[in-house]
Amino acid sequence: MLRTHNCGELKSSDINKMVTLAGWVQKKRDKGFIIWVDIRDRYGITQLIFDEKRSTKKLYDKAKNLSREDVVQVSGKVIERESKNIDIQTGRVELLVEKLNILNKSEIPPFTIEDNTDGGEELRMEYRYLDIRRAEIRENLIFRHDVTMKVRNYLSKKGFIDIETPYLIKSTPEGARDFIVPSRMNQGEFYALPQSPQTFKQLLMVGGIDRYFQIVKCFRDEDLRADRQPEFTQIDCEMSFVNQDDVLNEFEGLISHLLLKLKNIKLNNFPRMTYDEAMKNYGSDKPDIRFEMKFGDLTSISKGKGFNVFDSEESIIGFSIKNGNSISRKDIDGWTNWVKQPQIGAKGLVWVRYNDNKTLKSSVDKFYSHDELIDWVKITHAEPGDLIFILSGDYKKTLKQLGDLRLAIAEKLSLRDPNIFAPLWVTDFPLLEWDNELKRFHAMHHPFTSPKEEDIELLKTAPEKVKANAYDLVLNGNEIGGGSIRIHNSNLQKQIFNLLGFTDKEARKQFGFLMGAFKYGAPPHGGIAFGLDRLVAILGGKETIRDFIAFPKNNSGRDVMIDSPSSIIKPQLDELGLSIVKK
Ligand code: AMO
Repeated sequence: MLRTHNCGELKSSDINKMVTLAGWVQKKRDKGFIIWVDIRDRYGITQLIFDEKRSTKKLYDKAKNLSREDVVQVSGKVIERESKNIDIQTGRVELLVEKLNILNKSEIPPFTIEDNTDGGEELRMEYRYLDIRRAEIRENLIFRHDVTMKVRNYLSKKGFIDIETPYLIKSTPEGARDFIVPSRMNQGEFYALPQSPQTFKQLLMVGGIDRYFQIVKCFRDEDLRADRQPEFTQIDCEMSFVNQDDVLNEFEGLISHLLLKLKNIKLNNFPRMTYDEAMKNYGSDKPDIRFEMKFGDLTSISKGKGFNVFDSEESIIGFSIKNGNSISRKDIDGWTNWVKQPQIGAKGLVWVRYNDNKTLKSSVDKFYSHDELIDWVKITHAEPGDLIFILSGDYKKTLKQLGDLRLAIAEKLSLRDPNIFAPLWVTDFPLLEWDNELKRFHAMHHPFTSPKEEDIELLKTAPEKVKANAYDLVLNGNEIGGGSIRIHNSNLQKQIFNLLGFTDKEARKQFGFLMGAFKYGAPPHGGIAFGLDRLVAILGGKETIRDFIAFPKNNSGRDVMIDSPSSIIKPQLDELGLSIVKK
């Protein structure tokens, strides 16, 4: 055995034991007559001691030459430390080394392998294997493992069967672009990597599997952000003979279980809100409900009072900020500039201070009387000491702008506490979304989502009004899961494909296998997929999923460690019949 113990376990009760450890040199302090070396492994850090008196000259000289990240094996006696470090498990002891074996020398690493590393993100990504040696990343990966194991065990106990579906498939439209893989054996033809196993899990239901899950890689060629990677992992689930409530209750169970086991937080019922309510009250389909700031519509009571800006706009909407009156005039100007930046696009920001003595001061005092401002106070649920912010404009745009402002203010006021968990089901999404550029509808969730029974008639007359049996699970303002009850009738599925602009022939070409399967007794079914990376990051108190992925891609979709994507050589292109595309 290369070691008898790991670097995180020796304690006072081990004093006088002869042990062997192995690990990486974290740090060396050479006092001239004593050398202390910290060695690290996955489990922790142990201090080694070499001293001129007690160590042989050869051993002492060898220790003198150690440098950071050398891999060593050391044997010796556990002794009591003179100056103890009670912050770490092994801080009361040290190892008086008798034998030092250098297993491998290391070059000086490009950044320090410490909690507060001096390495920038790009450099740490290039040397990700060194970054993984840092406690933070290592702990994140171990945490991800914990979540995954808990999910697997929970779902397996509940009768869900883990079934793998293929990665080389044909395109499933889920709103993003596909990654394409050329076929050597079928030149000129291409596989697509799955954006999700959606159609396969539905076919498993037709196959009678009844309860399926898979922790599965999905691939989407879309613009990247902190919560998006081109390849990411889903906890993908599907059930037969269920309605929407069954699915929500089942998976509320899973998330409650994770919160309890991993965070010791007991949450019973998750609130539910329709898409329309979420948009109206928070300007977002994934509202963060850890804090209030619910919107109030001031349109009808604010027009016609001589304030031109409001008079000419479709909507006037505001919210109040608890104790926001402490926000300075300068900061209000800062927020005014913030909403005017092109990414937000508002024309200006109206504010009202509701003072502690119940007097009011606003940026529009010229146009609105005290009583009129009191109506704003009521509608935005403001209390003395609060500040009200109001935006006006096109209804949908104003909601979105105000939603962004609400989040930015909450962030600034530290209301987005990562230790508080506020899940929320958002339900009743519209089935279709009008694409103004392409002048056609596309599916808001995906084309297999069923319309609400009572709205089916509207498919012919007002498709934009049709609501779907679709739901998202939102956690702290992040969409961590989404799903729906599916269409299981081939005629209805055909009707939806037509609405989405597929001719019968195109629909048959792309989805013939699914419509064919539906002719052979497809059970009613539905499901959900959670974004594992997002779930893990949020449970871990962060929103950047990269930190919880062992080998992530950067924002341009590159793996800077292996330098991918990269060009391939001509013979490879020839073999694939792709030479023609080479520049
Ligand atoms: P949807 O497209 O909503 O649904 O995806 C499910 C969940 O996956 C996560 N997610 C991502 N995470 C990281 N990077 C990405 N690029 C990314 N894209 C999505 C989100 C999201 O909620 N087949 C359907 C599910 C179903 O209907 O059952 C689907 O894939 O957390």
